[in-house]
Amino acid sequence: MKTHEKQDSCTANIVKLKAWFEDYVQGFSSDDPVVQENMDLKKDHTIRVCKAIVDIGNSLRLSKEDLCIAEISALLHDIGRFEQYKRYRTFSDFKSEDHGILGAKVIQDHGILDGLEEKKADMIVRITRYHNRASLPLHEDERCIFFLKMVRDADKIDIWRVVTDYYHNKANRHNPAIELDLPNTPAVSDLVCSALMRGQLVQMTDVKTLNDFKLLQIGWIYDINFPRTFEIIREKRYLEKIWDVLPKASDKLRKAYERAEAYLNRLAHNRTSQI
Ligand SMILES: [Fe+2]
Repeated sequence: MKTHEKQDSCTANIVKLKAWFEDYVQGFSSDDPVVQENMDLKKDHTIRVCKAIVDIGNSLRLSKEDLCIAEISALLHDIGRFEQYKRYRTFSDFKSEDHGILGAKVIQDHGILDGLEEKKADMIVRITRYHNRASLPLHEDERCIFFLKMVRDADKIDIWRVVTDYYHNKANRHNPAIELDLPNTPAVSDLVCSALMRGQLVQMTDVKTLNDFKLLQIGWIYDINFPRTFEIIREKRYLEKIWDVLPKASDKLRKAYERAEAYLNRLAHNRTSQI
Protein backbone atom coordinates (compact mmCIF):
# COMPACT_ATOMS: atom_id res chain seq x y z
CA MET A 1 0.00 0.00 0.00
CA LYS A 2 1.30 3.49 -0.90
CA THR A 3 1.83 5.97 1.92
CA HIS A 4 -0.94 8.33 0.77
CA GLU A 5 -3.40 5.44 0.77
CA LYS A 6 -2.48 4.70 4.35
CA GLN A 7 -3.00 8.26 5.54
CA ASP A 8 -6.59 7.88 6.60
CA SER A 9 -6.20 4.26 7.49
CA CYS A 10 -6.41 4.68 11.23
CA THR A 11 -10.18 4.60 11.59
CA ALA A 12 -10.43 1.83 8.97
CA ASN A 13 -7.91 -0.27 10.89
CA ILE A 14 -9.32 -0.09 14.37
CA VAL A 15 -11.98 -2.76 13.83
CA LYS A 16 -9.35 -5.15 12.43
CA LEU A 17 -6.98 -4.35 15.25
CA LYS A 18 -9.64 -5.07 17.86
CA ALA A 19 -10.33 -8.42 16.19
CA TRP A 20 -6.59 -9.15 16.12
CA PHE A 21 -6.38 -8.33 19.84
CA GLU A 22 -9.24 -10.74 20.66
CA ASP A 23 -7.53 -13.51 18.69
CA TYR A 24 -4.12 -12.83 20.15
CA VAL A 25 -5.40 -12.93 23.72
CA GLN A 26 -7.39 -16.08 22.96
CA GLY A 27 -4.05 -17.73 22.16
CA PHE A 28 -3.05 -17.34 25.83
CA SER A 29 -6.10 -19.23 27.17
CA SER A 30 -5.22 -21.74 29.83
CA ASP A 31 -6.80 -24.62 31.74
CA ASP A 32 -5.11 -23.27 34.84
CA PRO A 33 -7.77 -21.00 36.46
CA VAL A 34 -5.14 -18.71 38.00
CA VAL A 35 -3.46 -18.12 34.63
CA GLN A 36 -6.84 -17.60 32.95
CA GLU A 37 -7.91 -15.13 35.65
CA ASN A 38 -4.81 -13.02 35.08
CA MET A 39 -5.12 -13.12 31.30
CA ASP A 40 -8.78 -12.02 31.66
CA LEU A 41 -7.69 -9.29 34.07
CA LYS A 42 -5.40 -7.74 31.46
CA LYS A 43 -7.83 -8.22 28.60
CA ASP A 44 -10.67 -6.53 30.51
CA HIS A 45 -8.25 -3.82 31.68
CA THR A 46 -7.32 -3.08 28.06
CA ILE A 47 -10.95 -2.81 26.98
CA ARG A 48 -11.68 -0.37 29.80
CA VAL A 49 -8.55 1.69 29.09
CA CYS A 50 -9.82 2.05 25.51
CA LYS A 51 -13.13 3.40 26.86
CA ALA A 52 -11.39 5.74 29.29
CA ILE A 53 -9.11 7.17 26.59
CA VAL A 54 -12.10 7.88 24.34
CA ASP A 55 -13.75 9.65 27.28
CA ILE A 56 -10.65 11.81 27.82
CA GLY A 57 -10.27 12.36 24.06
CA ASN A 58 -13.87 13.53 23.76
CA SER A 59 -13.35 15.98 26.60
CA LEU A 60 -10.46 17.42 24.56
CA ARG A 61 -12.59 17.48 21.39
CA LEU A 62 -10.03 15.48 19.42
CA SER A 63 -10.49 14.85 15.70
CA LYS A 64 -11.74 11.42 14.64
CA GLU A 65 -8.27 10.48 13.45
CA ASP A 66 -6.55 11.55 16.69
CA LEU A 67 -9.19 9.81 18.77
CA CYS A 68 -8.44 6.71 16.76
CA ILE A 69 -4.67 6.95 17.33
CA ALA A 70 -5.41 7.32 21.04
CA GLU A 71 -7.65 4.26 21.03
CA ILE A 72 -5.13 2.08 19.17
CA SER A 73 -2.44 3.20 21.63
CA ALA A 74 -4.72 2.15 24.49
CA LEU A 75 -5.53 -1.17 22.82
CA LEU A 76 -1.85 -2.05 22.48
CA HIS A 77 -0.29 -0.40 25.54
CA ASP A 78 -0.33 -3.59 27.64
CA ILE A 79 0.06 -6.10 24.82
CA GLY A 80 3.33 -7.26 26.45
CA ARG A 81 1.46 -8.35 29.60
CA PHE A 82 0.21 -11.61 28.06
CA GLU A 83 3.65 -12.80 27.02
CA GLN A 84 5.07 -11.55 30.33
CA TYR A 85 2.61 -13.59 32.38
CA LYS A 86 2.99 -16.63 30.16
CA ARG A 87 6.77 -16.60 30.47
CA TYR A 88 7.23 -15.51 34.08
CA ARG A 89 3.86 -15.94 35.89
CA THR A 90 4.12 -12.43 37.29
CA PHE A 91 3.19 -8.86 36.36
CA SER A 92 6.19 -7.51 38.27
CA ASP A 93 8.58 -5.93 35.74
CA PHE A 94 11.33 -6.09 38.37
CA LYS A 95 10.94 -9.84 38.72
CA SER A 96 10.63 -10.45 34.98
CA GLU A 97 11.17 -7.90 32.23
CA ASP A 98 9.82 -4.49 31.28
CA HIS A 99 6.36 -5.11 29.81
CA GLY A 100 6.44 -1.86 27.81
CA ILE A 101 9.58 -2.91 25.95
CA LEU A 102 8.20 -6.43 25.56
CA GLY A 103 4.95 -4.99 24.16
CA ALA A 104 6.80 -2.87 21.59
CA LYS A 105 8.57 -6.07 20.43
CA VAL A 106 5.26 -7.95 20.17
CA ILE A 107 3.81 -5.18 17.94
CA GLN A 108 6.86 -5.23 15.69
CA ASP A 109 7.29 -9.02 15.56
CA HIS A 110 3.65 -9.54 14.58
CA GLY A 111 3.58 -6.60 12.16
CA ILE A 112 0.37 -5.51 13.89
CA LEU A 113 0.52 -1.93 12.65
CA ASP A 114 1.69 -2.62 9.10
CA GLY A 115 -1.60 -1.26 7.74
CA LEU A 116 -0.96 2.16 9.28
CA GLU A 117 1.04 5.07 7.97
CA GLU A 118 4.62 4.42 9.12
CA LYS A 119 4.92 7.59 11.19
CA LYS A 120 1.79 6.77 13.18
CA ALA A 121 2.77 3.14 13.61
CA ASP A 122 6.23 4.11 14.92
CA MET A 123 4.71 6.55 17.36
CA ILE A 124 2.31 3.91 18.74
CA VAL A 125 5.23 1.50 19.19
CA ARG A 126 7.11 4.17 21.16
CA ILE A 127 4.03 4.96 23.27
CA THR A 128 3.75 1.26 24.17
CA ARG A 129 7.45 1.14 25.02
CA TYR A 130 7.29 4.23 27.26
CA HIS A 131 3.86 3.95 28.82
CA ASN A 132 5.01 2.33 32.07
CA ARG A 133 8.13 4.43 32.68
CA ALA A 134 8.37 6.28 35.97
CA SER A 135 8.37 9.57 34.05
CA LEU A 136 7.85 10.89 30.54
CA PRO A 137 10.76 10.51 28.08
CA LEU A 138 12.80 13.68 27.59
CA HIS A 139 13.59 13.50 23.90
CA GLU A 140 10.29 12.88 22.21
CA ASP A 141 8.14 14.97 19.95
CA GLU A 142 5.14 16.83 21.27
CA ARG A 143 2.57 14.63 19.57
CA CYS A 144 4.01 11.43 20.98
CA ILE A 145 4.10 12.98 24.47
CA PHE A 146 0.48 14.11 24.11
CA PHE A 147 -0.82 10.61 23.27
CA LEU A 148 1.48 9.07 25.84
CA LYS A 149 -0.04 11.33 28.52
CA MET A 150 -3.51 10.20 27.45
CA VAL A 151 -2.54 6.53 27.71
CA ARG A 152 -0.95 7.06 31.13
CA ASP A 153 -4.08 8.82 32.45
CA ALA A 154 -6.50 6.24 31.00
CA ASP A 155 -4.29 3.40 32.28
CA LYS A 156 -4.25 4.79 35.81
CA ILE A 157 -8.02 5.34 35.85
CA ASP A 158 -8.54 1.65 35.24
CA ILE A 159 -5.76 0.41 37.52
CA TRP A 160 -7.37 2.44 40.32
CA ARG A 161 -10.66 0.74 39.48
CA VAL A 162 -9.10 -2.73 39.53
CA VAL A 163 -7.17 -2.27 42.77
CA THR A 164 -9.89 -0.47 44.73
CA ASP A 165 -12.32 -3.19 43.72
CA TYR A 166 -9.79 -5.81 44.77
CA TYR A 167 -8.92 -4.18 48.12
CA HIS A 168 -12.58 -3.71 49.06
CA ASN A 169 -14.16 -6.91 47.87
CA LYS A 170 -13.48 -9.37 50.65
CA ALA A 171 -14.91 -12.19 48.56
CA ASN A 172 -12.00 -11.82 46.14
CA ARG A 173 -9.42 -14.51 46.31
CA HIS A 174 -5.93 -13.37 47.22
CA ASN A 175 -4.20 -12.54 43.95
CA PRO A 176 -0.41 -12.18 44.25
CA ALA A 177 -0.24 -10.88 40.66
CA ILE A 178 -2.29 -7.76 41.56
CA GLU A 179 -0.17 -7.29 44.69
CA LEU A 180 3.04 -7.72 42.65
CA ASP A 181 3.99 -10.49 45.09
CA LEU A 182 4.70 -7.89 47.80
CA PRO A 183 4.53 -8.86 51.50
CA ASN A 184 1.36 -7.75 53.28
CA THR A 185 3.04 -6.53 56.48
CA PRO A 186 1.90 -3.44 58.45
CA ALA A 187 5.10 -1.54 57.58
CA VAL A 188 5.23 1.64 55.49
CA SER A 189 8.65 2.60 54.16
CA ASP A 190 10.01 6.04 55.11
CA LEU A 191 11.07 6.95 51.57
CA VAL A 192 7.56 6.20 50.31
CA CYS A 193 5.90 8.35 52.96
CA SER A 194 8.39 11.20 52.45
CA ALA A 195 7.84 11.31 48.68
CA LEU A 196 4.09 11.64 49.23
CA MET A 197 4.65 14.29 51.91
CA ARG A 198 6.53 16.34 49.30
CA GLY A 199 3.72 15.89 46.78
CA GLN A 200 5.82 13.66 44.57
CA LEU A 201 5.46 10.33 42.84
CA VAL A 202 6.65 7.31 44.81
CA GLN A 203 9.48 5.43 43.12
CA MET A 204 8.78 1.76 42.45
CA THR A 205 12.31 0.92 43.69
CA ASP A 206 11.31 2.24 47.15
CA VAL A 207 8.23 0.00 47.38
CA LYS A 208 8.88 -2.86 49.80
CA THR A 209 5.42 -3.80 51.11
CA LEU A 210 1.82 -3.93 49.90
CA ASN A 211 1.09 -0.79 51.95
CA ASP A 212 3.91 1.02 50.11
CA PHE A 213 2.34 -0.05 46.83
CA LYS A 214 -1.04 1.33 47.93
CA LEU A 215 0.66 4.62 48.75
CA LEU A 216 2.39 4.62 45.37
CA GLN A 217 -1.08 4.32 43.85
CA ILE A 218 -2.26 7.36 45.85
CA GLY A 219 0.82 9.24 44.61
CA TRP A 220 -0.15 8.65 40.97
CA ILE A 221 -2.38 11.69 41.38
CA TYR A 222 0.80 13.76 40.86
CA ASP A 223 1.25 12.20 37.44
CA ILE A 224 -2.20 13.02 36.03
CA ASN A 225 -2.37 15.24 32.97
CA PHE A 226 -5.92 16.00 31.89
CA PRO A 227 -8.83 17.77 33.65
CA ARG A 228 -11.31 15.00 32.74
CA THR A 229 -9.10 12.46 34.50
CA PHE A 230 -9.12 14.46 37.75
CA GLU A 231 -12.88 14.66 37.47
CA ILE A 232 -13.24 10.88 37.10
CA ILE A 233 -10.88 10.19 40.02
CA ARG A 234 -12.92 12.46 42.26
CA GLU A 235 -16.24 11.04 41.08
CA LYS A 236 -15.08 7.47 41.76
CA ARG A 237 -13.38 8.41 45.07
CA TYR A 238 -10.34 6.32 44.23
CA LEU A 239 -7.88 8.00 46.63
CA GLU A 240 -10.32 7.69 49.53
CA LYS A 241 -10.90 4.02 48.72
CA ILE A 242 -7.17 3.29 48.89
CA TRP A 243 -6.74 5.33 52.07
CA ASP A 244 -9.56 3.27 53.67
CA VAL A 245 -7.45 0.12 53.44
CA LEU A 246 -4.23 1.63 54.84
CA PRO A 247 -3.10 1.63 58.49
CA LYS A 248 -3.97 4.93 60.18
CA ALA A 249 -1.21 4.80 62.80
CA SER A 250 0.94 7.67 61.61
CA ASP A 251 0.14 11.40 61.50
CA LYS A 252 2.76 11.85 58.82
CA LEU A 253 0.93 9.39 56.62
CA ARG A 254 -2.41 11.11 57.17
CA LYS A 255 -0.89 14.46 56.20
CA ALA A 256 0.57 12.91 53.05
CA TYR A 257 -2.85 11.55 52.11
CA GLU A 258 -4.60 14.84 52.88
CA ARG A 259 -2.14 16.64 50.64
CA ALA A 260 -2.97 14.27 47.77
CA GLU A 261 -6.72 14.77 48.35
CA ALA A 262 -6.33 18.54 48.46
CA TYR A 263 -4.36 18.46 45.19
CA LEU A 264 -7.08 16.35 43.56
CA ASN A 265 -9.87 18.60 44.82
CA ARG A 266 -8.05 21.69 43.59
CA LEU A 267 -7.57 20.30 40.07
CA ALA A 268 -10.98 18.66 39.78
CA HIS A 269 -12.54 21.89 41.05
CA ASN A 270 -10.66 23.96 38.46
CA ARG A 271 -12.23 21.78 35.83
CA THR A 272 -15.74 22.13 37.27
CA SER A 273 -15.42 25.93 37.43
CA GLN A 274 -14.29 26.05 33.79
CA ILE A 275 -17.50 24.42 32.50
FE1 LIG B 1 1.10 -1.36 31.37
